[in-house]
Amino acid sequence: MRGLFVTGTDTGVGKTVLSAALAAAISESGLPVAAYKPAVTGLDDGAEEGVLDGGVQQVWPPDHELLATATGMAPEQVAPLRYGPAVSPLLASQLAGAPLGSRRLLDDAATATATATATADGGEADGTLIVEGVGGLLSPLAEDFTVCDLAVALALPLLIAARPGLGTINHSLLTLQAARAAGLDVRAIVLTPWPEEPSRLESSNAEAITRFGFVEVDTLPCVAGPELAELARVGAQLPWRRWLGAGVARDPLS
Ligand SMILES: Nc1ncnc2c1ncn2[C@@H]1O[C@H](COP(=O)(O)OP(=O)(O)O)[C@@H](O)[C@H]1O
Ligand SMILES: [Mg+2]
Repeated sequence: MRGLFVTGTDTGVGKTVLSAALAAAISESGLPVAAYKPAVTGLDDGAEEGVLDGGVQQVWPPDHELLATATGMAPEQVAPLRYGPAVSPLLASQLAGAPLGSRRLLDDAATATATATATADGGEADGTLIVEGVGGLLSPLAEDFTVCDLAVALALPLLIAARPGLGTINHSLLTLQAARAAGLDVRAIVLTPWPEEPSRLESSNAEAITRFGFVEVDTLPCVAGPELAELARVGAQLPWRRWLGAGVARDPLS
């Protein structure tokens, strides 16, 4: 099974928008695609507001709902673990009185890979799995398990979502270094949302990350809203076919 694991330099950097645009574009091309978000937190906070170019307010649904729109899955299937407080999954699970362990996350990941490869009639499909991490690469998912550990267990190639502006060089290179130290295959750093007319700083950031990180840097233009057609339109501009090339997931339980 093919797939990509989307992490980011931080929370709120565009992982969900990137994952949903990717999934929508893959789906529109006619390939079966599934999405998996190990846990969503912050559901007590309601919809997330963003500001588009020109100052227009845009309300984004919670991660698992946007990923459900992109894939046609049920939101609860995308994210089996859902919490109200806007804290890490580890703390959220502790606050809920049922602290997460790696076993539960590995079981859920195995279910997600099975979903991605299952056809409606119970056969095996040539499916693709898009996994959105939580927070950044070293964010804790469970008492003994980080986002990085999950990406290693799934053995999926990594995309790193990052901001285009000031501060992104350091955050991108730190995440890249941590990913490579864990043996992960980083396909690209994706700067998002990439403006139609990038500033000198933004263009220079993309060049610096490429040069200092010896890594591919791509950009995701602005997605105007959470509709499937718009996600697919912008996602189609990403080189997802090449990224998926050699990305074959391992059974996380093996
Ligand atoms: N390509 C993009 N188009 C439109 N908005 C974007 C884009 N990338 C990031 N954003 C903005 O950044 C906010 C955070 O993005 P999100 O994908 O939810 O981040 P994360 O999943 O990393 O927490 C979004 O609500 C949106 O306002
Ligand atoms: Mg997200």
